[in-house]
Amino acid sequence: MAERALLFEDVAVVGSSAEGGAISVWTLNRPDKLNALNTQSHQDIKEQCARVESDDNVRCIVIRGSPPLEPEEGKRPKPPAFAAGADISEFAGKDSDDVRPFFDDNAWEAVWNLSKPTIAMVDGFALGGGTELALSCDIRIASDRSTCGQPEINLGLIPGGGGTQRLCRLIGYGRTMEIVLSGGMVSAEEALQMGIVNKIVPAQELEAITMGLAQEISRKSPFTTKAAKRAVRAALDLPFSEGVLMERSEFVALFDTEDKEIGVTAFLSRSDAEWVGR
Ligand code: COA
Repeated sequence: MAERALLFEDVAVVGSSAEGGAISVWTLNRPDKLNALNTQSHQDIKEQCARVESDDNVRCIVIRGSPPLEPEEGKRPKPPAFAAGADISEFAGKDSDDVRPFFDDNAWEAVWNLSKPTIAMVDGFALGGGTELALSCDIRIASDRSTCGQPEINLGLIPGGGGTQRLCRLIGYGRTMEIVLSGGMVSAEEALQMGIVNKIVPAQELEAITMGLAQEISRKSPFTTKAAKRAVRAALDLPFSEGVLMERSEFVALFDTEDKEIGVTAFLSRSDAEWVGR
């Protein structure tokens, strides 16, 4: 059987008062190709998106890359990578009719469209489609040895996984233009300074810090985190005045939930909220 392009594991939420609860950790699993995203990677990611969306137990999703394998005798070690882009070997000899169906139904949008919180845990190269996969997540935590960028211009291409749009909304027009037009590499420090990543941490602490944040998010009401995500997301699409209305409507609707009463009562009685997720 072919090696899976994506490994997944549902990790229990610790200290959650809600029934059960898990963080779904997805590991891009093509370490010999720096976890480059091929057709199978997209298929596997889309499958996992469908699974976690319909599984109430999953509260949050963390996406990471496989660490490099031990090098063969006499070979140099491969560098750490989140994902070094789309698999370029799948581009050779293809025309627009060949690639359009794939790009019309891709993993970047599947991740972006998840209603649950998502975190990219980036260690090493996140280039092209790898940067775009991280941008499809809500939050990016990177190790201090990470590098991102949109090098597609060097292949006679442009980003095709939403990179121009998501990057522009995240860091603005001028910086996006510089990254997309130069195809240059952006260091972890630069990525932090520009706001591409939320924080950078030492590589050996990346997993603990990312999973700590995932645990913290997963201990909130799963109903409310979805409402929060919808409201913040609206700021990307809607004119300001409509976004404010949309937020208010989400806020007011939460007053009909059991979790709002549970949260407010827990605060007032100085106890822990025991969410029911509705
Ligand atoms: N698609 C397919 N294979 C890729 C890949 C990609 N995007 N990125 C890396 N690989 C493969 C290499 O072909 C190589 O395979 P091999 O060992 O079988 O020859 C392996 O991963 C290791 O990469 P290598 O280039 O040898 O590592 P490096 O340390 O010398 O360089 C990078 C690392 C990231 C600078 C370099 O691999 C690179 O530029 N990758 C492409 C980045 C890119 O343009 N992404 C956008 C794609 S749209």
